[in-house]
Amino acid sequence: MEKLVISGGNKIFGNIEISGAKNAAVAILPAAVLASKGVSTIENVPDIDDVKCLVKILESLGCKVTRNESTVIIDSTEVHNVKANIEEVRKMRASYYLLGALLGRFKEASVDLPGGCPIGVRPIDQHIKGFEALGADVEVGYGAVSVKTDKLIGTNIYFDVVSVGATMNVMMAAVLAEGQTTLENPAKEPHVVDLANYLNSMGADIKGAGTDTIRIKGVKELKGCTYSVIPDQIEAGTYMIATAACGGEVTIQNVIPKHLEAISAKLTEMGVEIIEGDDSVTVKSERNLKAVNIKTLPYPGFPTDIQQPMSTLLTMAKGRSMVTESIWESRFKHVDELKKMGAKIDVNGRVAIVEGVEKLTGAEVIATDLRAGAAMVIAGLMAEGETIIAGLEHIDRGYPYIEDKFTKLGATIRRETV
Ligand code: EPZ
Repeated sequence: MEKLVISGGNKIFGNIEISGAKNAAVAILPAAVLASKGVSTIENVPDIDDVKCLVKILESLGCKVTRNESTVIIDSTEVHNVKANIEEVRKMRASYYLLGALLGRFKEASVDLPGGCPIGVRPIDQHIKGFEALGADVEVGYGAVSVKTDKLIGTNIYFDVVSVGATMNVMMAAVLAEGQTTLENPAKEPHVVDLANYLNSMGADIKGAGTDTIRIKGVKELKGCTYSVIPDQIEAGTYMIATAACGGEVTIQNVIPKHLEAISAKLTEMGVEIIEGDDSVTVKSERNLKAVNIKTLPYPGFPTDIQQPMSTLLTMAKGRSMVTESIWESRFKHVDELKKMGAKIDVNGRVAIVEGVEKLTGAEVIATDLRAGAAMVIAGLMAEGETIIAGLEHIDRGYPYIEDKFTKLGATIRRETV
């Protein structure tokens, strides 16, 4: 078993390079299955465990996959299997994008029920509603979701809840449907737009991604193309918050500052200095932080995936902060771990009240999910003494080279095999 060992208290300085966006890459790699001709060359893919799992799953379907650093080359012309049922499918959430992609191309798919972070119930009713509206029969049983039809016909689909996964999954099926599909009340996250741009580069006809209505005109076939994944908004936000927490000055490079606006605005409100460049943000912090209130919302609101790192930062802000988690019902599991380090937080349902304390102290803690893991790393960096974090399998699903990146900035952090 591996653990991260952190000696807290160092200020951090320097430059850090952000990797490709996890939540874009994990949709774009399955979407490559839609290409019946040519080869897809996907660049700026993060080196994380979710990507490793997806590569194995794609190979199990008959794709030929080659990886060269951050480039993944996928030849999907010879896909012979529409059943994704190897162990890796159940380890991650994004394997369910193969439902939309395989349904689009082969009009048939069966994918084992996905796993992912234990942050709430995570229903897929909106995905199913979308596939059924396009004409597919959907069956959930024996631990898998199966979809099948003779043909997909474009239609109007109104999502009852704003869902990143349902928007992307249904978009993948609709690109090869007959006629036009309109998605109303879709998610507008940067990764939704990135997937639409990728599909358009393959020959799809999608307009309006990132707005309230997405219009998709079905095309006959898609071809492989070369595409570069956008930078990871959440990884960038995590390093911004870590800089605010440790104190110091860090320039976070390879970002799209527009995607970080909600995070930058909150940090500014707390007294942190943020300087935006064309493709970078510089964060300067004296650790003199003010309490703020946070409410998570779909994009462009404050991202739920940054709530756990942010509520960790708030443990040392002066005054009382209120954090409202409106997307996931169980996304405060990091709070019990923070309490072991001296944080004062009361959770009542979806609201956490954080009373700022003078200091956190090192402890043995667990990363209960991916972003809780990032939260624990930030807590360890800002605490006095040594923090030991277990549960690295969660962190490794989404943060490439986390200890190397923080070491480069001057933090004392190492990975140990226990
Ligand atoms: C994606 O999950 C991300 N995962 C999550 O990031 C992120 O927290 C979430 O979007 C919200 O931004 C990936 O992209 C792989 P949703 P997803 O469908 O697609 C409800 C991380 O840390 N809902 O937008 O599963 C659902 O219960 C991960 O990187 C339905 O009711 O999220 C939730 O309350 C964790 N029915 C809300 O919608 C559905 O059919 C948003 O979920 C689908 C969702």
